[in-house]
Amino acid sequence: MKLGKDANPNGSGYEGHKGNEHQPSLIDENVVPTSPFLVNDYNSGSRVNRNQATPLLELRDITKEYVDDRGKKIVVLNNISLSINSHEYISVVGPSGGGKSTLLRIMMGLEKCTSGEVMIKGEQLKDKVDPHMAMVFQSFGLFPWLTVVENVEFGLESIHISKEERRKKSVNIIQEVGLEGFENAYPRELSGGMKQRVGIARALVLDPEVLLMDEPFSALDPLTAEALREEILKVWSNRLTTPDVVMMVTHNVEEAVYLSDRVVILSQRPARVVKDLYIDIPRPREKRDASIYEYTDQITTLIA
Ligand SMILES: Nc1ncnc2c1ncn2[C@@H]1O[C@H](COP(=O)(O)OP(=O)(O)OP(=O)(O)O)[C@@H](O)[C@H]1O
Ligand SMILES: [Mg+2]
Repeated sequence: MKLGKDANPNGSGYEGHKGNEHQPSLIDENVVPTSPFLVNDYNSGSRVNRNQATPLLELRDITKEYVDDRGKKIVVLNNISLSINSHEYISVVGPSGGGKSTLLRIMMGLEKCTSGEVMIKGEQLKDKVDPHMAMVFQSFGLFPWLTVVENVEFGLESIHISKEERRKKSVNIIQEVGLEGFENAYPRELSGGMKQRVGIARALVLDPEVLLMDEPFSALDPLTAEALREEILKVWSNRLTTPDVVMMVTHNVEEAVYLSDRVVILSQRPARVVKDLYIDIPRPREKRDASIYEYTDQITTLIA
């Protein structure tokens, strides 16, 4: 976790993603196979079939239904299957109300699915918040009555480390997200960008392998959003630190293309996967790369 710092001092960060220049050989050149056995070989740059491979994270036929006040059944998610490999940055886009946040909450273990399974490293997610995952929310989700450092260390309370260690870990991460000196400030004293830095610190302090982010930049002004995007990219690119996988929900298609290895497009409710698209642009990427606009157009037309 090196937010705001060079995460690639030895040249090992972005390098890991350079093999992203796929030589597609499957049916549709950009559609990701949903089979868990079909994974990317980032080293050879080709998509290969490795029968033993277990994806880091797997959604198997996730369906979610609610019953409304009048007893009517509402199907929100309809058989969502996704297979997510180590080192992937994956974004989920789709129409408003389609079930994207619901999907993240299910993955986080905050909500149960009606049917289906979430597997992490081949094991089924238990009915509780999973320690491999942490979540960053659009509305920051800070406790207004707690200071910055208390907000960050809150999530560590269930972990069996001493109070002193908790404080030390939290103060370190607060410095890394660029909030040194604000440890004892209350959320009301912070700008939106600073609040989201606390939100990110609170997630990163847990050392999650999977970082789930629900529209993390949408409440921020464009410049702050851009800075935080770059910082998240650095954190994720650093192979030596967590998180290994980032899964982000966004309405900003260009943002999704710029940041992601894959963009999953969901339909209107009940959400199903319309397309699972590889973003075949080498990293580091140029924001004004023509391919970014091409992918953005392609995805925008697919969102109903
Ligand atoms: N607890 C609940 N009870 C009943 N319906 C719910 C509940 N939670 C979510 N829903 C419904 O599920 C649908 C999907 O909601 P969700 O918040 O996941 O959508 P979303 O894709 O994240 O939308 P947005 O892009 O606007 O954030 C909505 O129609 C919502 O009303
Ligand atoms: Mg949402």
